[in-house]
This record gives sequence, C-alpha cells and structure tokens, in this order.
Amino acid sequence: MIILGIESTAHTFGVGIVDDSSEKFIIADEREQYTPKHGGIHPREASRFFAEKGPLAIGRAIASAKIDISSIDGIAVALGPGLGPCLRVGATIARALTVYFKKPLIPVNHAVAHIEIGLKLTELTDPVIVYLSGGNTAIVAYVDRKYRVFGETLDIALGNLLDTFARETSLGPPYVVNGIHVVDRCAESGRRIVKELPYVVKGQDVAFSGLLTSALRMYREGVDLGDLCLTLREIAYNSILEVTARCLMHTRKSEVMVVGGVAASPILREKLEMLVKIYNARLGIVPPSYAVDNGVMIAWTGVLEMYSGIVIEPEKAIVNQRWRLDEVDIVWR
Ligand code: FE2
Repeated sequence: MIILGIESTAHTFGVGIVDDSSEKFIIADEREQYTPKHGGIHPREASRFFAEKGPLAIGRAIASAKIDISSIDGIAVALGPGLGPCLRVGATIARALTVYFKKPLIPVNHAVAHIEIGLKLTELTDPVIVYLSGGNTAIVAYVDRKYRVFGETLDIALGNLLDTFARETSLGPPYVVNGIHVVDRCAESGRRIVKELPYVVKGQDVAFSGLLTSALRMYREGVDLGDLCLTLREIAYNSILEVTARCLMHTRKSEVMVVGGVAASPILREKLEMLVKIYNARLGIVPPSYAVDNGVMIAWTGVLEMYSGIVIEPEKAIVNQRWRLDEVDIVWR
C-alpha cells in the first residue's frame, strides 16, 4: 500500500510517502521548516509559510518517489493536536487532493503518529512511551485499545522549558547545536546544584513552570548560568525519569521508547539507559530525523489506519487543535 502523509501541526510542513510493500519503505520524505525570526512560533506567519511552500514539497515528494499520483492508495493528514492556522493549511491541501484525485482521506492524530513511527523504527512491541517535544511531555502506555496517558506535564512541556530558558538567557536560538541542546551544553560548565530550584512531581505528573520562573529569577540575581543549567537539566530530566520508572512498575512493561523532538538529547539517553538497567527493560530511541515532526510518520500511521478502514469524508476532515492521543481508538493493534 502506498500512502502520502501530510504534517503541518507546528513549525514543519512535512510530506512523506510510504510503501509498505517495498523494501525501501520510505519512498519520499520532504520537509519545509518555518523558523521564526525571533521568539516562538507565530502561528499565522507559519501558516503563510506553509501555504507557500507546502504544494512545492508535495510536488517534490511525488517526483522523488518516482510514482504517479494515481498509484497512491490514500492521503493521510495530521488533523491535530497543534496550532489551528498551521493545521488548517495541511487539512485544506489534503482535502483538495483527495477530492481532485478521488483518493480516500485518512485522519491522523499527530501524537499517535509519533508513537507509531517510533514502534516501526525501534522494533519495540509494547513499551512505556516517553513523549517529549516542544509542546508535549507525557508518559504513555498502551492499555486496552488506547494509548493512555499515565502522567504528563501540568503546565509547560520539557522542550518549552529548555527553549524558553535558553532564549531568556541568550543561550539560543538556535536551541540545538550538533544534536545537543544549548542548555545541556551550558550545564557542562556547572559545578554545583542550586538547591533553591523546585523539583515538582505530583503523583504521576510533572510541572516545570515554577522551575522556569525560579531559574530565570536567579539568573537575573546573578547566579552562575552554568550552575543554573546543570540544576535545571537535572531536575527536569530526573522528574521525567521518576514518572517513567513508576509507569514501568505499574504496567509491568519491559520496554521504554522515547519519541518526540527532545528524544535526541544524549544526556537524557544516558539517564534512561541507567534506568532501564535497573528495571531490566529495553530502551528504544527514535532516530533524531524521525523523532522530530515529519510527514513519514503521518503516512505510516495512514497505512495502519487504512488497513483498518479508517477513512473520512473530506467535509468531515475538520482540524482539532486539542485532539488528545487518548481519544483515539487504536483498532489496528
Ligand atoms: Fe510533534
């Protein structure tokens, strides 16, 4: 089966084409990344960028896959969660293509797609999933037809914490240099843990906004930036570890998979390796280029859904900015 997937939930317009009967599997992977001039993503600006670059990316994907659009079996699109204006560009393009070329339209949840491409590439079967990206921090486990959220952030995401701290202290942007976050890099010069910064794990959930506010206040008071980065990183990563360990014990699963844009952090990987050793579990980390947002993960989830007959009428393909991953029935497992 050949499915074309469109991703446009945040800063990346991604087009992937997957052929599950071909040895190659990924037959096209095109991406256009919107980078804000300063500050965070401006949704309207990003959506304008997508509207301009998106159709070109689709053209390039079809050309590089060396297929005719008529041989595509369906078009999958991420309908949420994400930024409304960005989501609407992908959805509009997908609806137009399905109507014009008379192809089935497959609705995909962006978070579910991160998990599905992770399972495919790490070859894990039933892991505790640590989902870390700019906008999401969640510990997830498959139970009874759903990916259930075991724990999550009560306020800002881990990626958001690191990026905001870096921005406010002029360490970034760019936030990630040679695969290492600038906060992780700066932490190497830290010599002590700043005891005043709060470590917050509430039951199964984490919270980072208090940590961010306190760290920024202390930075302005002149506390050493290296020490602050070291402490911030230790608190943030260790709180994720604590909830992951709890989930492993609770679910008795024997695998851990890290997905999402922050999955690439080598420091976090080291910590997780120590954790899985203690619990006799296996660790799988999605390769960095597929841990970030991309069209391939949408296309692959589209393949799984298509086999289960999950298609919708174009007029019903409405974006949902707050489409939670635990609302999706995972009928293909
Ligand atoms: Fe994402």
